Order: sequence, then C-alpha cells, then structure tokens
Amino acid sequence: MSDLDALGRTALIPFWARVHDALLPSPILGDHAAAALAPEVERRFGAEPVGDATRVGCCLRNRAMDEWIADLAANGNSGVRTVVDIGVGLDTRLRRRPQLAEHYVEVDGEAIMNLRDDLLPGTGAVRVRADGMSVDEWIDAVDHQVSSVTVLVLEGVLAYQDPSRVSRFFADAARCLPGAFVVFDNLSPLAAWPANRPAALAQGRPRYVWSPWFTRRIPAGSQRLRILQERGFGDFPRDLTREFSNRNRIVYSLPPMRRAYRLTLARLPD
Ligand SMILES: C[S@@+](CC[C@H](N)C(=O)[O-])C[C@H]1O[C@@H](n2cnc3c(N)ncnc32)[C@H](O)[C@@H]1O
Repeated sequence: MSDLDALGRTALIPFWARVHDALLPSPILGDHAAAALAPEVERRFGAEPVGDATRVGCCLRNRAMDEWIADLAANGNSGVRTVVDIGVGLDTRLRRRPQLAEHYVEVDGEAIMNLRDDLLPGTGAVRVRADGMSVDEWIDAVDHQVSSVTVLVLEGVLAYQDPSRVSRFFADAARCLPGAFVVFDNLSPLAAWPANRPAALAQGRPRYVWSPWFTRRIPAGSQRLRILQERGFGDFPRDLTREFSNRNRIVYSLPPMRRAYRLTLARLPD
C-alpha cells in the first residue's frame, strides 16, 4: 500500500496532528491546507492515530518555527531570502504562509517528494530529492547569485540521524553557508530515553539517536553553533499547553527536564 520507508512514515504523525488541530474550534496552528489533503492521504496510507500531547507538541513546533522564519525573513537587516526546509515531509508551510520567503527549497527523499508533487503542486518551492544530511546533494538549489542569508529548517529530523552525520552536516553547512540561521528541535538524553522505550516505539517510529545534552556545545566545524533563542513547551502561554497531562506538566517543569525537549534558533559561524 505504501512506498514510504520507516523514516518517511514519520511525516504522517505531524501531518495528522495538523489535520486534527485544524478541525478544532480553537486550533493552535489552524492549517486548513493540511485538512484539505486528509482524504487523499487517508486513502493512500490510512489515518494515523495521534494523541493529544503529540498533536499539541507538533503544532506548537510548527507555529514557533513559522514565527521564527517569518520574523527573520521580514527583518530587512537579517538579509534572509532563502529557506531550505530539510526533511519537509508533508508540511504545508507555504500554504500557511505563502509569502514566507523569496526562495523556498524543500528537501526530502524520493517517495515523499513524489507525494508532494502529487498533493501539493504549484507552491513555488524548489523540490530536491536528496539526503538532507549531505549538504552537497542540495546546495546547488540555494541561490548564490544574490548576497542572501539562508535559514535552514530541520523540524522533526535531526533526532533520527546518526550523531556523526549530524556533526558532519553542521560542519559542511558552516563551510557552504557561513552565517546561516538554523531552526531545529532536539531532545536531551533525559527526554530521548523514555521516548525510546519499547512501548513508545511499538507503532514503528525509528529510535531517536541524536540527543545532545547542551545545544550550546554543538560543534559546527572548528567552532560551535551560536544559540540565539531556545524554547521548551513550558515557555509557551498556558492556554496553548492546557491539553498536556498534569503528569507531563509536572515532569517537564522540573529544572533538569524544563528544556529536555526544546526548539532552537541558532546561527552558524561566519
Ligand atoms: C517527523 S517528519 C517531519 C516532517 C516535517 N518537517 C514536519 O514537521 O511536518 C521527518 C521527515 O524527515 C525526512 N528525513 C529524515 N531524514 C532525512 C534525511 N537524511 N534527508 C532528507 N529527509 C529526511 C523524512 O523522510 C520525513 O519526511
């Protein structure tokens, strides 16, 4: 039925999170483009059950990243003209925010990109079928004619990558795109451990294998990523996180856990 491998199938989780959110009276993201795709995605892959915490978490992540990218692109001083969305999955960001950036590059594997061509034609994005961790496979799609700054987006992607590949990715990205912004989510080993228990993996999600203790120590070549902003779910207004269970709320308010899952806005060294 499906030609998606286990990594490709992870795109269905945030997709269905957006669909269910869009049908609520007070959605977090309100992505009607996702809801419009739901019947066709269900026909091809079936509907994916998504719990409340996953729905809220995925949609807060999308929302925070939409806002960071939009702020960077709107800020004339940032020089941002290009966004490279690595592991774009079934995200409908350009339908949510059609004017987001002058150049929008989407990177994912062959099967996901074929699906995007079918389901989301004519968004204006440049689509690259590539291993996003291999910078040389997509760098030619970034416009070097203009003196523009790039935003690299890695949403729900890095945790699945082998740590040595993540190190190489940041080193290569710093060499090819010095000064680029990077937005990504990541979890510390304290959050990765419970997420990798057999019960949590029972539905077939691959293990989380990249989980840095501290983002400020992530190397990018001979230097380090410069962390500009970081948010855990506890940093969002309470009315957006009210559907997290009390247990989750308490656990993730304890100091070592407060940012055990975090959204990070960083800059590569220039
Ligand atoms: C959890 S989904 C997230 C999708 C999307 N970013 C979102 O937030 O809805 C992860 C996506 O990353 C893609 N992916 C994972 N590793 C990748 C790699 N090395 N190169 C390109 N795409 C990758 C998968 O195919 C999948 O579409």
